Order: sequence, then structure tokens, then C-alpha cells
Amino acid sequence: MRARIAVLPGDGIGPEVTREAVACLGQVARTLGHDFEFQSHPVGGYALDAYGVPLPPATLEACLDSDAVLLGAVGDPRHDKQPAGLKPESGLLALRQGLGVYANLRPALLHPALAASSPLKEEVVRGTDLVVVRELAGGLYFGEPRSLDEDRGVNTLPYTRFEVERIARYAFDLARLRRRKVTSVDKANVLESSQLWRRVVTEVAADYPDVALDHLYVDACAMALVLRPSSFDVILTDNLFGDILSDEASVLTGSLGMLPSASLGGKVGLYEPVHGSAPDLAGRDLANPIGAIGSAAMLLRHSLGLEKEADALEAAIAAVLTQGFGTADLGCQPARVGTRGMGEAIRQSFARELTGVSA
Ligand code: IPM
Ligand code: MN
Repeated sequence: MRARIAVLPGDGIGPEVTREAVACLGQVARTLGHDFEFQSHPVGGYALDAYGVPLPPATLEACLDSDAVLLGAVGDPRHDKQPAGLKPESGLLALRQGLGVYANLRPALLHPALAASSPLKEEVVRGTDLVVVRELAGGLYFGEPRSLDEDRGVNTLPYTRFEVERIARYAFDLARLRRRKVTSVDKANVLESSQLWRRVVTEVAADYPDVALDHLYVDACAMALVLRPSSFDVILTDNLFGDILSDEASVLTGSLGMLPSASLGGKVGLYEPVHGSAPDLAGRDLANPIGAIGSAAMLLRHSLGLEKEADALEAAIAAVLTQGFGTADLGCQPARVGTRGMGEAIRQSFARELTGVSA
């Protein structure tokens, strides 16, 4: 098959983890005779330096014209004093909006070899396999009015029935492919928009009698995630709560560097690790590329329909972890490797996994 993949390495450790993920996709193409075309485009602080805007129009156009977008990370402390619209992060928000992606899937799966790397006791974290379904196109991140002056900063948290219903259906459909359990997370004891959220999610649930639904307030969910993480299957939540809870969920699995994500439901799928640009690690061959490589696996599955290849790449990640390979963020490992070493180990294992996949 032919596919055009837009690559947006971005800032900090973005380029180095993205390089490893692109190499895995290249390996799929070479091994199975696909024709993948990779084109890099500027975003974030890198784009601000070069073009004065965090998302140059040409980058968005190229992404809209591609089959999938693979992004590294955005964020650069040198640009922190910029007004909201000119921060590196606003480039990512504009990209999500431009692509129309509203469903952000963030799977947190504990690999057995990493149980000791989790900050939780092994018996608590064992069996954790959840996915955060984060609403990505609305809520507090995009709400109007918003403003900032010397004495007052204002943001607004709106949700419409339409927005809640489409993300709820996404979560329930996904739950049907998993363990058929949705936990909807809101703050309905305080927020009107959460009351609408809860009402609409409950209505949607009526169409999915085979899926169990429960509701949690976000504060209780933050607590439950560390008390009983393995009890969750699909966590359905809004843009802000999903941002926060997915960072929390990620470290349960050993490190923030482990989590991949897919942003779907729009014109083109966007794939990026959940971690940020980690400027302190940049250029030091220290960053964990597994979140980025796992995002490449999600790209194969959701945008290119290459399910077996995606499974094989995830199996390759699992295999190297079983062998004891780990980057510094995963704590003391018998086989500590850098970003490149981890990427190479995964590709060696991937080569074996791919022999079982025919084009
Ligand atoms: C994430 C990030 C972004 C977000 C930032 C960089 C805008 O934290 O993808 O989780 O808050 O969505
Ligand atoms: Mn985040």
C-alpha cells in the first residue's frame, strides 16, 4: 500500500523519539513492500523560531493532505512568556482543531516486566490495562470567552450535547472491543457542564446495555487510579480531566515515557506520545522512545488498517521489556539503554515478529 505520513518532530526530545518511531514504520514498509512517504514539517517552538508561528499554515495543509500525522512533542521554556496564541503548545491545539480530531485514546497497559518500576506496590498495579478516552476538541481548552489582563484571567468550560454524545459513543464502541466497562469522569457536583455530560453519557449508555457504566467525580477518580488501577477499563472524560488523569495513569505503568496516543474522529489521525518535550533530556540519548513507537503502532492500526503489523510492533515492545531492556526513566534495569539503543532493540525484535506477517 501507499501512504503519506506527515512527521512533526517538534521540540525537545520530540525529534529523537520520533526518529525511532519513523524507523519502525520504515521497517514495516521495507519488509512488507509498502510505499510509505515521510515528510517532516515544523511545529511548536521550532516553528516559532523559524516562522514566527507555532503552526505554519503549510504544516497544517500538509497534514490535511496526508494519510496520518506522527508528532513528537511541543513545548519550549524559551517561549513560555509568549501570549497564549503564540506558545508552542497552541500549535498543537490548533493542529488538533484543524484536523478535527475529537477522540483522544491514551492506553495505559502495565507490562509485567515493569511492575517494579511503578510507583505503586506490585500487587496494586498488577493487571492494569485501561484506556483514557479524552474529549479533545472542546471544553476548557477551547471555551469562549477567554481573556487575560493584569488582574483577571478567564476561561470557560462549555460542552454541548453533540460534543458529549459523539465522544461517549466512541468510548462505548471501544469498550465493546475490550472488557465492556466505561467509567465516566466529571465534576457534576459542582459544574453545570459536567451535569450535562453526565446526563448525556447516561442517555447514550441506554444504547449499550451490554456495557457497564459508572460515574466518578474527577477527584475520586484520581484517588481510585492509585488505589485500584486494575479495576478500570475505559475512562471517558473531558479535555482537561483527561489531560490530567492520563499523566497520572501513565506513571502507574512505569513512566510517562511509555504512553502512546491516537487522536481520531477527524479528517486525518494524529499520533503522539503522551509525554512532553522534556527539554532537560533533549539531545542526550536518554528519552524513552516507547511512547512514540507505540504511537506508530496505533498509526498502523487506526489510519492504515495494518492491524497485524500494529500487533507485531506492540509485541516487539513487550519482548524487549521482557528481555530486561529499559531506558533510564524505567529505573534500574539489567540492560539500560539509551533512546537509540531502545529503538534498535525493538526493531530487532520487530524483524522477528514481522516474519509472521505476510503482506
Ligand atoms: C498533552 C499535552 C498538551 C495538552 C499540551 C502540550 C497542550 O499536555 O497532549 O497531554 O494539554 O493537551
Ligand atoms: Mn498532557
